[in-house]
Amino acid sequence: MTHAAITGWGKCLPPSVLTNQDLATFLPTDDEWITTRTGMKERRISHVPGIELAITAARRAIACAGLTGADIDLVIYGSCSNDETVPNSASGVQQRIGATHAAAFDVNTACTSFMYGLSIGTSMIRSGVVKNALVIGVELISQYMDWDNRNVAVLFGDGAAAVVLQSCDEETGVLAEKLQCYADSRQILRVRGMGTMYANLGAEYGQTRWDFDGQEIFRKAVQGMSEASLDVMRRVGVTMDDIALVVPHQANLRIIEAVAKRAGATADKVFLTVQKYGNMSSATAPVALVEAVETGRVAPGSLVLMPAFGGGLTLSSHLLRWGPRVTPLEVSDAELTPCTTTALEIVNHIRAQKKSGEATAGCFASLSFAEGRGS
Ligand SMILES: CC(C)(COP(=O)(O)OP(=O)(O)OC[C@H]1O[C@@H](n2cnc3c(N)ncnc32)[C@H](O)[C@@H]1OP(=O)(O)O)[C@@H](O)C(=O)NCCC(=O)NCCS
Repeated sequence: MTHAAITGWGKCLPPSVLTNQDLATFLPTDDEWITTRTGMKERRISHVPGIELAITAARRAIACAGLTGADIDLVIYGSCSNDETVPNSASGVQQRIGATHAAAFDVNTACTSFMYGLSIGTSMIRSGVVKNALVIGVELISQYMDWDNRNVAVLFGDGAAAVVLQSCDEETGVLAEKLQCYADSRQILRVRGMGTMYANLGAEYGQTRWDFDGQEIFRKAVQGMSEASLDVMRRVGVTMDDIALVVPHQANLRIIEAVAKRAGATADKVFLTVQKYGNMSSATAPVALVEAVETGRVAPGSLVLMPAFGGGLTLSSHLLRWGPRVTPLEVSDAELTPCTTTALEIVNHIRAQKKSGEATAGCFASLSFAEGRGS
């Protein structure tokens, strides 16, 4: 049987750091609340479009695999904050990396987009449609954040990561996964303002209001990620004792701790980035995976469990067997353009831009939360 090994990995975090203290300069919040309720201390804010983060991460992953862009025959761009819709973002990456003969498409399942993309890429390699796939998780949440809403503004950051999947005979890569969606709860995490429906109501692009029932999402995330993880382990016939590392989606330290407890993982088995990067939506899990490999936490041939959760409400858990190599074959010199502004300056600029369009924001009142719930 053909398998899809992860042979390349790379991440791209924008350099500007937004601290809890920075957030407290314009929101009624403080470091103590954010740290104790979420585990977050910092997050990154991008000075470049999301696709630039994606391309830099992609180039690093392709070099790591010892390939060139021309070797890639599938580009999957996992994101819910695309720079544009037509043309798709994956084709933009394809063009810039020179993957001339590749297929390219975008996947949006919110925070789980990379994980769903990993399943699709693996399946297309197993079925023989492609041989070398590039799967990206990237997010530019800062542009769509409702920066006046402390319930959500403290939780998210920007970033990207990518992996290269290659066809192989050894049983490595994704061994099994569970994919699911709690569609009946889709209204509890909704970004009003992103999509044509809102344009028809008169919203300016980038103007957003978030419907966000944090406590209910918290409960569903714990339930979904732990049940999916237990299901995958049961199907493969392994227990938590066999798993070397859990690399979960990082929406809240307390969610991660609750999932780990229910799935039977001790704290030393769980890889954390939430304190440094917050929740980068679809970039979160792959950034954590790449960082786990880069810091020596992933041993050759070991089992890695990756539970994830996001808007939709989508959920997933993937069980991976890492391949024999944990070091890059080559190192890319890809870098972002230098950043000359602080994260707080970038955020304040976005806030000022949104305020200037505030005259049109009355459209949000015309679509009440109750109406939104029905659709
Ligand atoms: C959002 C979340 C951190 C809130 O934590 P919580 O312990 O549930 O906190 P609560 O919602 O009960 O709020 C407690 C109080 O803190 C206040 N609060 C909310 N955000 C705050 C902030 N940034 N700073 C200070 N106070 C804040 C609330 O207004 C509330 O005040 P009240 O009691 O006077 O009404 C938590 O529910 C969570 O992580 N949810 C899931 C995250 C998520 O959805 N991620 C995206 C999908 S993967």
